Amino acid sequence: MKPNNLESLWMPFTPNKAFKKDPRIIVSAKGMHFTSDDGRLILDGTAGLWACNASHGRSKITEAVARQLEELDYSPPFQFGHPKQFELANRLSEIFPEGMNHVFFSNSGSEAVESALKIALAYQRSRGKGSKTRLIGSEKGYHGTNFAGISVGGMVKNRMYYGSLLSGVDHIRHTHLPELNSYSRGQPEHGAELAEDLERLVQLHDASTIAAIILEPVKGSSGVYPPPKGYLERIREICTKHDILLIFDEVISGFGRLGK
Ligand SMILES: Cc1ncc(COP(=O)(O)O)c(C=O)c1O
Repeated sequence: MKPNNLESLWMPFTPNKAFKKDPRIIVSAKGMHFTSDDGRLILDGTAGLWACNASHGRSKITEAVARQLEELDYSPPFQFGHPKQFELANRLSEIFPEGMNHVFFSNSGSEAVESALKIALAYQRSRGKGSKTRLIGSEKGYHGTNFAGISVGGMVKNRMYYGSLLSGVDHIRHTHLPELNSYSRGQPEHGAELAEDLERLVQLHDASTIAAIILEPVKGSSGVYPPPKGYLERIREICTKHDILLIFDEVISGFGRLGK
């Protein structure tokens, strides 16, 4: 059944007028299918919006959520803790690469990005490197919808309406080289040298002013661009050389969606 009135809701990343003239309404989901309001089964080829990796409506998950709501629906996160948040953080630390052993939870990818950038700035300041305040992003990068995220992001339509954004931000070039890499499978052969663009920004701003660079290891929202072979390794080297924090935004690509 279609809702009677579609007016009040502003839908994100959706041409609202066009949608509301011819709405596509999903009313339920099970396994790998959605069901539309007119009863059609639709294959969900993107696992929600990459958010339902374990498929839709798994009874194990709904039962666990219901059990938790009965036992403890909410506890304040400031100055109080509950056992399961520590348990989950410990389990995540065990599967993270060595040396990454602390977890800060957030409610969305956008909020995770803002938190990561704030942590980077606060970290530099707290170790006596308070002049390291610049944040570097990349052309075609996507880091969510909040102000810092669109500032370090490089998707023009997400930035152009919102004024001068965060100050002290710069961008390295994207690695999309269709003339060299078209039809390549997996990581493309060409483009590792584009990592030197970070070195260019270091020469321009000086490393003593740069706190962190944030990148999607595989760019997702702007078109799905795997990194050229050797590119991320070179970025890592430049960051180490200049004492710049390297933040990988794996909101789309992490946790079993890619890799082993
Ligand atoms: C790389 C990346 N960062 C951040 C975000 C923002 O996540 P959210 O939509 O949960 O705020 C996304 C969302 O697709 C993303 O792909």
